[in-house]
Amino acid sequence: MAKSPIVARTVLSLRQALRPYRRAGGTIALVPTMGALHAGHLRLVAEARKRADRVVVSIFVNPTQFAPHEDFGSYPRRFAADRAALTAAKVDVIWAPTAAVMYPQGFATRIAPEGAALAGLEDRFRPHFFGGVCTVVAKLFLQVQPDIAIFGQKDYQQLRVVTQMAKDLDLPLKVTGIPTVRERDGLALSSRNAYLSPDERAAAPVLSRVLKASAARIKRGEAIAAVMTDGVGEIVRAGFAVDYLEARHALTLAPVKTRKDGPIRLLVAAKIGKTRLIDNMAV
Ligand code: PAF
Repeated sequence: MAKSPIVARTVLSLRQALRPYRRAGGTIALVPTMGALHAGHLRLVAEARKRADRVVVSIFVNPTQFAPHEDFGSYPRRFAADRAALTAAKVDVIWAPTAAVMYPQGFATRIAPEGAALAGLEDRFRPHFFGGVCTVVAKLFLQVQPDIAIFGQKDYQQLRVVTQMAKDLDLPLKVTGIPTVRERDGLALSSRNAYLSPDERAAAPVLSRVLKASAARIKRGEAIAAVMTDGVGEIVRAGFAVDYLEARHALTLAPVKTRKDGPIRLLVAAKIGKTRLIDNMAV
Protein backbone atom coordinates (compact mmCIF):
# COMPACT_ATOMS: atom_id res chain seq x y z
CA MET A 1 0.00 0.00 0.00
CA ALA A 2 1.26 3.49 -0.86
CA LYS A 3 2.50 5.59 2.07
CA SER A 4 0.18 8.50 2.97
CA PRO A 5 1.66 11.93 2.30
CA ILE A 6 2.53 14.08 5.31
CA VAL A 7 -0.24 16.66 5.74
CA ALA A 8 1.21 19.99 6.88
CA ARG A 9 -1.20 22.61 8.23
CA THR A 10 1.22 25.23 9.57
CA VAL A 11 4.32 26.83 8.06
CA LEU A 12 6.40 25.36 10.89
CA SER A 13 5.18 21.80 10.25
CA LEU A 14 5.72 22.28 6.50
CA ARG A 15 9.33 23.36 7.08
CA GLN A 16 9.90 20.41 9.45
CA ALA A 17 8.52 18.02 6.83
CA LEU A 18 10.75 19.43 4.09
CA ARG A 19 13.97 19.75 6.10
CA PRO A 20 15.11 16.09 5.71
CA TYR A 21 14.57 16.24 1.92
CA ARG A 22 16.72 19.37 1.69
CA ARG A 23 19.41 17.91 3.97
CA ALA A 24 19.56 14.85 1.68
CA GLY A 25 20.20 17.22 -1.25
CA GLY A 26 17.04 16.23 -3.14
CA THR A 27 15.04 18.49 -5.44
CA ILE A 28 11.47 19.52 -4.63
CA ALA A 29 8.58 20.15 -7.03
CA LEU A 30 5.47 22.09 -6.02
CA VAL A 31 2.06 21.62 -7.65
CA PRO A 32 -0.21 24.46 -6.44
CA THR A 33 -3.92 23.56 -6.46
CA MET A 34 -7.22 24.54 -4.91
CA GLY A 35 -8.13 20.87 -4.42
CA ALA A 36 -11.15 19.08 -5.99
CA LEU A 37 -8.46 17.22 -7.88
CA HIS A 38 -9.13 15.68 -11.29
CA ALA A 39 -7.04 13.87 -13.88
CA GLY A 40 -5.58 17.20 -15.05
CA HIS A 41 -4.09 17.84 -11.60
CA LEU A 42 -2.85 14.26 -11.40
CA ARG A 43 -1.04 14.76 -14.72
CA LEU A 44 0.75 17.73 -13.13
CA VAL A 45 1.68 15.56 -10.16
CA ALA A 46 2.99 12.80 -12.47
CA GLU A 47 5.14 15.40 -14.28
CA ALA A 48 6.35 16.71 -10.93
CA ARG A 49 7.42 13.21 -9.91
CA LYS A 50 9.43 12.86 -13.13
CA ARG A 51 11.17 16.19 -12.62
CA ALA A 52 12.03 16.21 -8.90
CA ASP A 53 12.93 13.87 -6.05
CA ARG A 54 10.08 15.02 -3.81
CA VAL A 55 6.63 16.36 -4.60
CA VAL A 56 4.59 18.82 -2.56
CA VAL A 57 0.97 19.51 -3.56
CA SER A 58 -0.68 22.55 -2.00
CA ILE A 59 -4.43 22.53 -1.47
CA PHE A 60 -5.79 25.94 -0.61
CA VAL A 61 -8.97 27.59 -1.89
CA ASN A 62 -7.55 31.09 -1.96
CA PRO A 63 -10.17 33.66 -0.88
CA THR A 64 -8.22 36.64 -2.27
CA GLN A 65 -8.61 35.55 -5.90
CA PHE A 66 -12.43 35.40 -5.73
CA ALA A 67 -14.67 38.49 -5.99
CA PRO A 68 -17.61 38.64 -3.54
CA HIS A 69 -20.09 37.56 -6.26
CA GLU A 70 -17.96 34.56 -7.33
CA ASP A 71 -18.03 30.92 -6.22
CA PHE A 72 -15.63 30.91 -3.25
CA GLY A 73 -18.33 29.54 -0.91
CA SER A 74 -19.51 26.82 -3.26
CA TYR A 75 -16.09 25.91 -4.73
CA PRO A 76 -15.81 22.10 -4.33
CA ARG A 77 -13.82 21.02 -1.26
CA ARG A 78 -13.06 17.28 -1.09
CA PHE A 79 -10.02 16.85 1.12
CA ALA A 80 -10.49 13.14 1.89
CA ALA A 81 -10.81 12.21 -1.80
CA ASP A 82 -7.90 14.51 -2.69
CA ARG A 83 -5.69 12.92 -0.04
CA ALA A 84 -6.55 9.42 -1.33
CA ALA A 85 -5.70 10.46 -4.91
CA LEU A 86 -2.41 12.05 -3.80
CA THR A 87 -1.52 8.94 -1.78
CA ALA A 88 -2.00 6.81 -4.90
CA ALA A 89 0.07 9.35 -6.85
CA LYS A 90 2.92 8.96 -4.31
CA VAL A 91 3.04 12.60 -3.26
CA ASP A 92 5.35 13.30 -0.32
CA VAL A 93 3.69 16.30 1.34
CA ILE A 94 0.26 17.94 1.16
CA TRP A 95 0.49 21.58 2.17
CA ALA A 96 -3.02 22.47 3.31
CA PRO A 97 -3.01 25.66 5.35
CA THR A 98 -6.18 27.27 6.67
CA ALA A 99 -7.04 30.83 5.60
CA ALA A 100 -5.92 32.01 9.07
CA VAL A 101 -2.49 30.45 8.53
CA MET A 102 -2.13 31.91 5.03
CA TYR A 103 -3.56 35.32 5.92
CA PRO A 104 -3.12 35.84 9.66
CA GLN A 105 -4.75 38.74 11.47
CA GLY A 106 -3.11 41.97 10.27
CA PHE A 107 -1.96 40.58 6.90
CA ALA A 108 -1.45 43.70 4.75
CA THR A 109 0.54 42.87 1.62
CA ARG A 110 -0.65 42.27 -1.93
CA ILE A 111 1.34 41.77 -5.13
CA ALA A 112 0.09 43.92 -8.02
CA PRO A 113 1.19 42.22 -11.27
CA GLU A 114 1.26 44.16 -14.54
CA GLY A 115 2.22 43.09 -18.08
CA ALA A 116 0.33 39.92 -19.01
CA ALA A 117 -1.86 40.43 -15.92
CA LEU A 118 -3.35 43.52 -17.60
CA ALA A 119 -3.75 41.96 -21.06
CA GLY A 120 -7.51 42.57 -21.12
CA LEU A 121 -8.49 38.89 -20.91
CA GLU A 122 -9.35 37.35 -17.51
CA ASP A 123 -8.35 40.64 -15.84
CA ARG A 124 -11.15 42.46 -17.71
CA PHE A 125 -13.79 40.21 -16.11
CA ARG A 126 -12.01 39.33 -12.84
CA PRO A 127 -9.97 42.45 -11.96
CA HIS A 128 -9.11 41.15 -8.47
CA PHE A 129 -7.92 37.75 -9.75
CA PHE A 130 -4.23 38.05 -10.61
CA GLY A 131 -3.39 40.14 -7.55
CA GLY A 132 -4.86 37.37 -5.41
CA VAL A 133 -3.17 34.61 -7.41
CA CYS A 134 0.25 36.28 -7.35
CA THR A 135 0.06 37.03 -3.65
CA VAL A 136 -0.81 33.45 -2.73
CA VAL A 137 1.55 31.86 -5.27
CA ALA A 138 4.46 34.04 -4.06
CA LYS A 139 3.67 32.89 -0.52
CA LEU A 140 3.48 29.24 -1.62
CA PHE A 141 6.85 29.59 -3.38
CA LEU A 142 8.44 31.13 -0.27
CA GLN A 143 6.83 28.63 2.09
CA VAL A 144 7.81 25.52 0.10
CA GLN A 145 10.92 26.92 -1.68
CA PRO A 146 10.63 24.40 -4.51
CA ASP A 147 13.15 23.93 -7.31
CA ILE A 148 10.31 23.68 -9.79
CA ALA A 149 6.63 24.61 -9.78
CA ILE A 150 4.19 22.94 -12.15
CA PHE A 151 1.05 24.67 -13.46
CA GLY A 152 -1.55 23.62 -16.02
CA GLN A 153 -1.67 25.46 -19.33
CA LYS A 154 -5.46 25.57 -19.05
CA ASP A 155 -5.15 28.77 -17.02
CA TYR A 156 -2.85 30.17 -19.67
CA GLN A 157 -2.85 33.84 -18.62
CA GLN A 158 -2.20 32.73 -15.03
CA LEU A 159 0.77 30.68 -16.21
CA ARG A 160 2.24 33.68 -18.07
CA VAL A 161 1.65 36.02 -15.10
CA VAL A 162 3.18 33.65 -12.54
CA THR A 163 6.17 32.91 -14.79
CA GLN A 164 6.83 36.65 -15.10
CA MET A 165 6.38 37.21 -11.38
CA ALA A 166 8.94 34.52 -10.52
CA LYS A 167 11.39 36.11 -12.97
CA ASP A 168 10.77 39.69 -11.80
CA LEU A 169 11.15 38.80 -8.12
CA ASP A 170 14.27 36.64 -8.77
CA LEU A 171 12.55 33.68 -7.14
CA PRO A 172 14.99 30.77 -7.45
CA LEU A 173 12.75 28.22 -9.15
CA LYS A 174 11.61 27.15 -12.59
CA VAL A 175 7.92 27.59 -13.47
CA THR A 176 6.72 24.96 -15.94
CA GLY A 177 3.39 24.70 -17.79
CA ILE A 178 1.91 21.32 -18.72
CA PRO A 179 -0.56 20.83 -21.60
CA THR A 180 -4.27 20.72 -20.76
CA VAL A 181 -5.88 17.33 -20.16
CA ARG A 182 -9.18 16.96 -22.05
CA GLU A 183 -12.22 14.72 -22.00
CA ARG A 184 -12.67 12.52 -25.10
CA ASP A 185 -14.98 15.16 -26.60
CA GLY A 186 -12.37 17.89 -26.12
CA LEU A 187 -13.70 19.62 -23.00
CA ALA A 188 -10.77 20.82 -20.88
CA LEU A 189 -10.78 19.22 -17.42
CA SER A 190 -11.70 21.72 -14.71
CA SER A 191 -13.02 21.47 -11.17
CA ARG A 192 -15.82 23.81 -12.33
CA ASN A 193 -17.09 21.25 -14.89
CA ALA A 194 -18.85 19.67 -11.89
CA TYR A 195 -21.28 22.63 -11.91
CA LEU A 196 -22.57 21.83 -15.44
CA SER A 197 -26.07 20.40 -15.93
CA PRO A 198 -26.31 17.48 -18.43
CA ASP A 199 -27.45 19.90 -21.20
CA GLU A 200 -24.66 22.37 -20.41
CA ARG A 201 -22.12 19.54 -20.32
CA ALA A 202 -23.33 18.43 -23.78
CA ALA A 203 -22.85 21.97 -25.13
CA ALA A 204 -19.46 22.62 -23.46
CA PRO A 205 -17.14 20.94 -26.04
CA VAL A 206 -17.99 23.80 -28.44
CA LEU A 207 -15.18 25.78 -26.80
CA SER A 208 -12.38 23.37 -27.72
CA ARG A 209 -14.02 22.65 -31.08
CA VAL A 210 -13.98 26.35 -31.98
CA LEU A 211 -10.41 26.80 -30.74
CA LYS A 212 -9.22 23.86 -32.82
CA ALA A 213 -11.07 24.91 -35.98
CA SER A 214 -9.96 28.55 -35.55
CA ALA A 215 -6.31 27.54 -35.11
CA ALA A 216 -6.50 25.47 -38.30
CA ARG A 217 -8.08 28.34 -40.26
CA ILE A 218 -5.48 30.87 -39.04
CA LYS A 219 -2.70 28.42 -39.95
CA ARG A 220 -4.19 28.20 -43.44
CA GLY A 221 -3.84 31.98 -43.70
CA GLU A 222 -7.42 33.16 -43.10
CA ALA A 223 -7.90 36.62 -41.54
CA ILE A 224 -7.80 36.40 -37.75
CA ALA A 225 -10.62 38.93 -37.17
CA ALA A 226 -13.06 36.99 -39.39
CA VAL A 227 -12.11 33.66 -37.81
CA MET A 228 -12.72 35.10 -34.32
CA THR A 229 -16.11 36.55 -35.34
CA ASP A 230 -17.22 33.16 -36.71
CA GLY A 231 -15.98 31.44 -33.56
CA VAL A 232 -17.93 33.76 -31.25
CA GLY A 233 -21.06 33.11 -33.34
CA GLU A 234 -20.69 29.34 -33.02
CA ILE A 235 -20.15 29.52 -29.24
CA VAL A 236 -23.17 31.79 -28.78
CA ARG A 237 -25.35 29.45 -30.89
CA ALA A 238 -24.37 26.60 -28.52
CA GLY A 239 -25.90 28.56 -25.61
CA PHE A 240 -22.89 30.40 -24.12
CA ALA A 241 -22.44 34.10 -23.36
CA VAL A 242 -18.92 34.87 -24.58
CA ASP A 243 -16.61 37.05 -22.45
CA TYR A 244 -13.82 36.86 -25.03
CA LEU A 245 -12.40 34.78 -27.86
CA GLU A 246 -9.08 36.28 -28.84
CA ALA A 247 -5.84 35.64 -30.65
CA ARG A 248 -2.86 36.85 -28.62
CA HIS A 249 0.92 36.64 -28.68
CA ALA A 250 1.69 33.41 -26.85
CA LEU A 251 4.28 34.99 -24.52
CA THR A 252 3.28 38.63 -23.99
CA LEU A 253 -0.48 38.10 -24.57
CA ALA A 254 -0.45 41.32 -26.64
CA PRO A 255 -3.12 41.43 -29.37
CA VAL A 256 -2.04 40.09 -32.79
CA LYS A 257 -3.43 41.14 -36.15
CA THR A 258 -1.79 38.60 -38.46
CA ARG A 259 0.01 35.29 -38.19
CA LYS A 260 3.33 37.11 -38.59
CA ASP A 261 2.79 38.76 -35.16
CA GLY A 262 2.92 35.30 -33.52
CA PRO A 263 3.53 32.75 -31.98
CA ILE A 264 -0.21 32.89 -31.42
CA ARG A 265 -2.35 31.51 -28.62
CA LEU A 266 -6.14 31.51 -28.88
CA LEU A 267 -7.95 32.12 -25.59
CA VAL A 268 -11.64 31.87 -24.76
CA ALA A 269 -13.86 32.50 -21.72
CA ALA A 270 -17.62 31.98 -21.84
CA LYS A 271 -20.48 31.38 -19.48
CA ILE A 272 -23.27 28.82 -19.74
CA GLY A 273 -25.95 28.96 -17.04
CA LYS A 274 -24.03 29.85 -13.88
CA THR A 275 -20.74 28.29 -14.98
CA ARG A 276 -17.87 30.23 -16.51
CA LEU A 277 -15.36 28.12 -18.46
CA ILE A 278 -11.99 29.07 -19.96
CA ASP A 279 -9.81 27.29 -22.50
CA ASN A 280 -6.95 28.05 -24.89
CA MET A 281 -4.96 26.49 -27.71
CA ALA A 282 -1.77 27.16 -29.66
CA VAL A 283 -2.03 28.08 -33.35
O1 PAF B 1 -4.91 27.50 -10.63
C1 PAF B 1 -5.26 27.39 -9.44
O2 PAF B 1 -5.76 26.37 -8.98
C2 PAF B 1 -5.06 28.59 -8.50
O3 PAF B 1 -5.25 29.80 -9.17
C3 PAF B 1 -3.69 28.56 -7.78
C4 PAF B 1 -2.54 28.65 -8.76
C5 PAF B 1 -3.56 27.28 -6.96
C6 PAF B 1 -3.57 29.75 -6.82
O4 PAF B 1 -4.58 29.74 -5.86
